[in-house]
Amino acid sequence: MMRNELCWCGSGRKYKKCHLAYDEKINAMKFDFMKGQVRPPKKLIKNEADIEGIRLAGVINDGALDLAAAMIEAGQNTEAIDTAIHDFIISKGAYPSCLGFEGYPKSVCISINDVVCHGIPSKKTILKEGDILNVDITTEYNGYYADASRMFMVGNVNPAAERLVKVTKECMELGIEQVKPWNYIGDIGAVVGAYAKQNGYSVVTALGGHGVGKGMHEDPFISHVGEPQTGMLLVPGMVLTVEPMINMGKDAVNVDKKDGWTVRTKDHSLSAQWEKTVLVTETGNRILSS
Ligand code: MF3
Ligand code: CO
Ligand code: CO
Repeated sequence: MMRNELCWCGSGRKYKKCHLAYDEKINAMKFDFMKGQVRPPKKLIKNEADIEGIRLAGVINDGALDLAAAMIEAGQNTEAIDTAIHDFIISKGAYPSCLGFEGYPKSVCISINDVVCHGIPSKKTILKEGDILNVDITTEYNGYYADASRMFMVGNVNPAAERLVKVTKECMELGIEQVKPWNYIGDIGAVVGAYAKQNGYSVVTALGGHGVGKGMHEDPFISHVGEPQTGMLLVPGMVLTVEPMINMGKDAVNVDKKDGWTVRTKDHSLSAQWEKTVLVTETGNRILSS
């Protein structure tokens, strides 16, 4: 690409004023990429318009999570929460992307106690005192996606469960601290895995985070275990989720045979998860949905 041509990122700026310096830096790293570290494909690098699009989806997504927070109480059924969130997101001119995704039947995932993720809201599922639950919401707005989840506790929760929720949040936060340019994806999993283990917990490896943008699930896959300085290089403009699923018992999970979605711990131990959508900036990161 010539210096005076428009940059490949779609910013509308001249290449020399946009990603020229970036390309020179990446090309200078070619020996790293020959050792097995992965060069980020250009299609994963968002421009300012893309980032603004994801941010706006994130504002609606965060509002939907706030609405969920206000509805959590003993006696509440999870379908009522799903319906309220569906209507809220639609009222903003956006779409709750889980609905219809690979046939998923509801607008959000609500995962209680030993449910790791993809719990399907139902009138028959009633929140009760002592439950811990994750509400996971993905919003699409003007063709851009944002994805985040939070844990909630119903009334008084036993201290061991509360500690799992707290440590899982810390796992996510430590992982997000590693989201900065010129780090590697393996750096995220390395700190998350070590901290979970140090606290006596296990990390689910069957599922993980992902890139997000014009698709709900884009490359790269974000493992929550890993080795420092391995995998894909993180560069400014990448947007991804950090969403560790942490189990009190063993890491093994299985999918409900009847509904084909609900993921539970095999040993029925409690599981927790927190998720944010995170942008890699020039200096660190910025949260686009949480
Ligand atoms: N929000 C989930 C994630 O974090 C995806 C849920 S897909 C669904 O990646 F179909 F189960 F809703
Ligand atoms: Co999610
Ligand atoms: Co996600």
